[in-house]
Amino acid sequence: MCGIIGYSGHRPAVPLIIEGLHRLEYRGYDSSGVCFVQNKELKVVRAEGKLKLLEDKLARMEVSLATTGMGHTRWATHGAPTEDNAHPHRSSRGDLAIVHNGIIENYQECKAELLAKGFEFSSQTDTEVLANLIADEHSSETSLLKAFASALERARGAYAVALLSRQEPDTVYAARQSAPLLLGLGSGENFIASDIPAFLPYTRDVVFLEDGEIARITPTSWEVFSLADLKPMEKKISRIEWDLQAAQKGGYKHFMLKEIFEQPMTISDCAAGRVSMSRFEAHLPELEAIAKPSRLRIVACGTSYHAGIWAQILFENWARIPTTVEIASEFRYRNALLSPGETLLVVSQSGETADTLAALRIAKERGSPILGICNVIGSSISREADAIIFTQAGPEISVASTKAMTAQMTVLMLMAMHWSKNGGSLNRDEARLILNGLSDLPAKLSGILPTLKSEAATLAARFASSKGMFFLGRGQSYPLALEGALKVKELSYIHAEGYASGEMKHGPIALIDQDFPSFVLLPNDDLFAKTRSNMEEVAARKGPVIALTNPPKSGLDIKGCETWLMPEAFGPLNSFLMLPALQLFSYEAAAYLGKDVDQPRNLAKSVTVE
Ligand code: AGP
Repeated sequence: MCGIIGYSGHRPAVPLIIEGLHRLEYRGYDSSGVCFVQNKELKVVRAEGKLKLLEDKLARMEVSLATTGMGHTRWATHGAPTEDNAHPHRSSRGDLAIVHNGIIENYQECKAELLAKGFEFSSQTDTEVLANLIADEHSSETSLLKAFASALERARGAYAVALLSRQEPDTVYAARQSAPLLLGLGSGENFIASDIPAFLPYTRDVVFLEDGEIARITPTSWEVFSLADLKPMEKKISRIEWDLQAAQKGGYKHFMLKEIFEQPMTISDCAAGRVSMSRFEAHLPELEAIAKPSRLRIVACGTSYHAGIWAQILFENWARIPTTVEIASEFRYRNALLSPGETLLVVSQSGETADTLAALRIAKERGSPILGICNVIGSSISREADAIIFTQAGPEISVASTKAMTAQMTVLMLMAMHWSKNGGSLNRDEARLILNGLSDLPAKLSGILPTLKSEAATLAARFASSKGMFFLGRGQSYPLALEGALKVKELSYIHAEGYASGEMKHGPIALIDQDFPSFVLLPNDDLFAKTRSNMEEVAARKGPVIALTNPPKSGLDIKGCETWLMPEAFGPLNSFLMLPALQLFSYEAAAYLGKDVDQPRNLAKSVTVE
């Protein structure tokens, strides 16, 4: 969601900024812009649509002299995705401009005050209001740092913001409140950005900004101040160990495909150091200092929420911990009761999802212990949780989450095993089968991915033009059904529903006819016969049925049903084979329909607004 990069250094700033914006494209955007000072003039160039259109405009200009500047990719919140609403936004008094990620909630009140003072507005955005607020403060305040801080005190909401002024042409200011922002420290050059890939070719040394902090960079200095009193803050410099290669396509046509094919490695990286094959135990060092929760409340959004539902069964069955799972945007506004000793477990790939972060803060205020599962080191959730378990999946660039879910499922399963040692019901034989199965899983999955891909392509060609489709499952296959449908919706824009198979006859089955296929998740488990009956009910209404199932199994010779075979794995491990099949189907359907696989319309990778 919106990408920011700011640069102050010795190189031509504009090409470097454009290059950085390309590396932030995965966050999702619908317009873009840059700003720089050249020949003592503040220049702003913006374009609607993809970055190419901004590059075309810049190609017609002389921009090589500027060595300081900032750029932005905008994902529209206030105002349509037009050039007028694109960032940077300049104050109507002309001397400064800002780029902004987030929402200024009281922008209408602020705008009314500013209009009364004679400020003018040329966009519908809350960002332009903030630019004018800074200019307003600067008219009575000589220091731009103080004016910036005072304006931010007047603004309410979430933001990551960067500021450039004609009067200080070598300086970029930045501040954050509930939206990610960090500094990159180079030699004779410094950066600010919403995410590390933006500047990774130039430096691996980063400083993560906290809420309520303001930063100032020049080519040779960087400082961080507290917003409240402008006192300098001591900050730790972190070294980034992964390289840009990990955030590039590596020969695959799309990031999504690369990330699907990385899942065997995701499973082994995620389990590394967390299992003992001699004792058949899972042991998460991150949980060592934490007592086994008496109750668990999992809160997350989207795919991460589905991983949470998937794990609920394991926490209850193996670890015997009563567990509930909630959508973060619902939890945060319903004054939820948290019982004493109940632990909140937030699950998030990005660690920046606004609703999940808000849920964490609410539960923290009420005194609940907070555990986090997260993929991005240094993210807000990873810093604010009492204990954090990293999924170690490497950067996930495609907007559609794939390997992150596999990593979350791996960690969640190991957590349930970890807590099962103390009063749980998982016996040693089952634990042995699971851990042996887990160590075989990467090779098994690698072996089937190419076949799954070509089978998915054949199915996609047959069904991508359907008016809609169902994904059905029971037990742990139910959250996979939800995830299969989410993936099809977000990538192909086909209407798809994930449903508990037993619930179909309570209404949704009315949709079934010969143009409405159902993908049924049918692992060879205790629920096989129950799900099979539901399949028959669909087939009897002439709905095409595709059963993702394990061979060999009799009883699947149902008229109108076909099978999509997966190798068998033990218990919950089946999900790690079926999930990639669903991901590949949605990938192939989107590719077949010519959709933008890595950046689907209207979506952002990291949803930092509510
Ligand atoms: C799934 O493909 C989506 N990208 C989305 O549902 C995502 O899982 C959700 O926005 C939560 O993100 P998080 O894991 O970064 O918190």
